[in-house]
Amino acid sequence: MQASDIQQSFNMINDKYRNQFYFNALQNVKDKVVLDVGSGLGVLSSYALHHGAKFVYAVERGRKESIISNKILTQNFSKKNFKVINADFWSKNIFENFDHDIDVMVSETINYDILGEGILKTWRQIKNIAHQNFTAIPNQFKFNLLIFENPLDKFVWFRKRFELIHENLLHEGFANSLANVYEKSKSSQLLYEFPVSQCHHADKILHNVINLTFKSYNDDGIKFQCDVDKPSLIMLDGTLIAEDNQLHIHNQKNPTHWSNGLSMYLPEKGTYEISFEENATSNLVKWTNVSTASNMWPYNCTWTYKKIDGEYNR
Ligand SMILES: C[S@@+](CC[C@H](N)C(=O)[O-])C[C@H]1O[C@@H](n2cnc3c(N)ncnc32)[C@H](O)[C@@H]1O
Repeated sequence: MQASDIQQSFNMINDKYRNQFYFNALQNVKDKVVLDVGSGLGVLSSYALHHGAKFVYAVERGRKESIISNKILTQNFSKKNFKVINADFWSKNIFENFDHDIDVMVSETINYDILGEGILKTWRQIKNIAHQNFTAIPNQFKFNLLIFENPLDKFVWFRKRFELIHENLLHEGFANSLANVYEKSKSSQLLYEFPVSQCHHADKILHNVINLTFKSYNDDGIKFQCDVDKPSLIMLDGTLIAEDNQLHIHNQKNPTHWSNGLSMYLPEKGTYEISFEENATSNLVKWTNVSTASNMWPYNCTWTYKKIDGEYNR
């Protein structure tokens, strides 16, 4: 979820289950120096200060969010104990802003596919200064894969969603340009946002297809394989972990603001290799709302698939 739209921030800060996860995970920060990366309106910084952090750096690239969070934190905590920094954490000189060693980094540069808002970049950046006892929250992610066979039979709206209705765009040139984008995304990668609340069961679940930990993640590409017997919709399902605290992001009983999930349609039976690409040439395939993707998300990344046992290869 991108917080440059303040309205969206309210979705996040109202998300009881993810709040509980971060609140619990920050319980042991007494007298520690905490860095909150992508601090938004400051809720996680406030948890750290509440639990007795010695000092909190709240780094947020959105200007509005930085101003608001500074106000909110000032109203609740002593200014001696925190600093809001309006900057891009991934920028080269970011560490010049810090006067302390960082003991704990908390970050929610995470979205509905966990990796799509740049948590790997955030991990990579902090590794430049992480000392022996440094901890990251979260410090581990596990992914399962839900496989829905023949989804087109089950989910009628899904077929409708990708129709492009020229007349509705009211501008012929624009409609033609969009048609190109539409054709490209249709024939290369089909990735959909898909409401998990409507997935009452998956026909198969592949457990733990990816397991990433802060300590061992070393920039290798992220890949896994998946076999399907029929055309199938697959959905990534994930868990955030910080020591003993876990948050299952697509739990149907306790849905989080990420619960829409990321889905891909695998068009025929076979074995597929699915990978997460950073620095992808385009992130459009990931989004149903093209303008949101290109304007608001500087981190170009995408999940892609290719069939590795036969004809179909895109
Ligand atoms: C998912 S929101 C979380 C906001 C807040 N931490 C919360 O828990 O409500 C992620 C925030 O990270 C910010 N962000 C993303 N990448 C960033 C970066 N490289 N540097 C600084 N802020 C970043 C976004 O602007 C957004 O406000």
